[in-house]
Amino acid sequence: MRQPLVIANWKMHGKGAFNEALVTDFLTALKEHRAECVLCPPFAYLGQLSELLGASDVMLGAQDCSHIDQGAYTGEVSAEMLKDIGCQWVIVGHSERRQYHQESDGLVAAKLGMAQRAGLVPVLCVGETQEQREAGQAESVVKAQLLGALSDLPDLNGLAIAYEPVWAIGTGLTASPAQAQDMHAFIRDVVRDLDAGNADTLRLLYGGSVKAANAAELFAQSDIDGALVGGASLDAKAFAAIVGAA
Ligand code: 13P
Repeated sequence: MRQPLVIANWKMHGKGAFNEALVTDFLTALKEHRAECVLCPPFAYLGQLSELLGASDVMLGAQDCSHIDQGAYTGEVSAEMLKDIGCQWVIVGHSERRQYHQESDGLVAAKLGMAQRAGLVPVLCVGETQEQREAGQAESVVKAQLLGALSDLPDLNGLAIAYEPVWAIGTGLTASPAQAQDMHAFIRDVVRDLDAGNADTLRLLYGGSVKAANAAELFAQSDIDGALVGGASLDAKAFAAIVGAA
């Protein structure tokens, strides 16, 4: 039995007073929940959120980490530093990093290794573009991303994978529950070939315009174990409803 997991990716949003209100309102709105829950604010607000989350069971994550452990790399933040300030999770290989920062599968693989060595749980993001889906390449693209990132990782235990079709991110378009389930089942099969022992316990999250209104039907699919939520995670009540639905 896989415990549901819902992760908020705030992307580059937030400001001191806004964050305080958002987290406070979210914790108030959050009722009994089965799901594990993680908030990933920008680096600048990790310390603030660590304090705001206090003794709650909501965990802290970062949106990225460096592929290097330390040194003269201006602007980089290492996985060990994230662990040091109280992060337990880190998102790796988000499509916006791949698109705007030219992150390759090799770089993503190096980041995954760093995250695991530091004791963080990495959430690997994969997903195809609209053009790739229309060309019938969705599965081959996702498979290449999975193999590129995971093949050299010694252990897939504890990892989570988020399927985020690029065409569904921030667009209001959501993969249908059946489309998402098909890809999740495919991802689990690819993982099974790499690491049969961990394929059935590994959690697969869907991301792309997840909202309170569509969360339950996505979570009802057998291989969808939760969500990676962008826009709706900036609304306390909506995000609490998504966590409650998982
Ligand atoms: P939206 O929920 O805003 O579509 O973003 C999804 C996402 O990219 C989460 O990482």
